Amino acid sequence: MNTIIGKIDKDSQDRIIAQASEILSKGGIVAFPTETVYGLGGNAYDGDVAKKIYAAKGRPSDNPLIVHIACNDDLEKLSDDIPDKAWLLAEKFWPGPLTMILKKNDRIPYSVTGGLDTVGIRMPSHPVANKLIAESGIYLAAPSANLSGRPSPTKAEHVIEDLSGRIDMIIDAGNIDIGLESTIVDLTCPVPTILRPGYITFEMLKEVLGDVELDKALMTGVGVGVKPKAPGMKYRHYAPKAQLTIVEGNTDNVINKINEMTAEEEAKGHRVGIMTTTENVSKYQGGIVLDLGSVSERLQIANHLFDELRQFDTLDVDCIFSEGFSEDGLGQAIMNRLVKAAGHKIINV
Ligand code: TXA
Ligand code: MG
Repeated sequence: MNTIIGKIDKDSQDRIIAQASEILSKGGIVAFPTETVYGLGGNAYDGDVAKKIYAAKGRPSDNPLIVHIACNDDLEKLSDDIPDKAWLLAEKFWPGPLTMILKKNDRIPYSVTGGLDTVGIRMPSHPVANKLIAESGIYLAAPSANLSGRPSPTKAEHVIEDLSGRIDMIIDAGNIDIGLESTIVDLTCPVPTILRPGYITFEMLKEVLGDVELDKALMTGVGVGVKPKAPGMKYRHYAPKAQLTIVEGNTDNVINKINEMTAEEEAKGHRVGIMTTTENVSKYQGGIVLDLGSVSERLQIANHLFDELRQFDTLDVDCIFSEGFSEDGLGQAIMNRLVKAAGHKIINV
């Protein structure tokens, strides 16, 4: 399949959005930018389109898609059962990086929701995403626009690398602002429950909702007997080709341990990747060191994480060591992705 690549600038934006709308209206699938990561969108009311999306990503079909809308009132087109809390959250956080799980209505096919009676809904704030949905009049069922298992795309190049030749069009709007996928909150349970941490933090949700819980599987980790409520959270994700190991503890101990392990690996002739923060870059004696950003700039770290995981694949390293991060605020989302990328391989020093 020939994939059209539409690069957005001031002059081309309207034309590209019109072209993408046309493709979507004919049942095609289009990668588009959102403020979190690039998504791969298609008509959410069309079950066959959902199947195309799963096939292009190589994604298991029991893993539901998030439906993207353009204004708060669109909620009523997807669900007949909207609790007051949903309107409250929409008012406060939309457009923005928050997905709500609600009961689905009959117009949403089960192939979009992976067989569930609920649907994930979000209103993205990226102007291109917003215009595309509003102008096409099509609600977009859209997972992240990466091949299943790879890090989510935060640059158009990542989408091109994974999906070129597999989808109808890629809208290239440059780099993404946040770089981690949306926070998912389930409003169908007695107490609203976070199924995936993101830019909208536990603390921010608690302030609006009063009561909010974290899905237990997020705390214990998959494979420790608790099944995550978001089907997608059970799969190995974001995994670079080389084994990633997280080293946690007192900063000096962490640096010493990574230096020691790097020396051991290099002595065996292995290429080692190290993920660190700006403050610590100069403290490593070997390895290929990538700087995630300043430890005090969590958003920078979030923004660079997936790109660096992809870079290590290109650099062809044999193993990767990363510093751990404290899990307050945005740190919870960063560690959630890092721990999954590491397949839960963590060393405490
Ligand atoms: O930021 C984002 O959310 C991006 C952009 C494109 O909007 N999308 C994204 O989609 O990350 P995806 O498909 O890569 O991740 C969706 C996650 C999966 O873990 C899935 O299992 C969960 O949302 N999910 C979707 N619908 C659900 C539902 N009805 N119940 C529970 N979990 C659901
Ligand atoms: Mg994804």
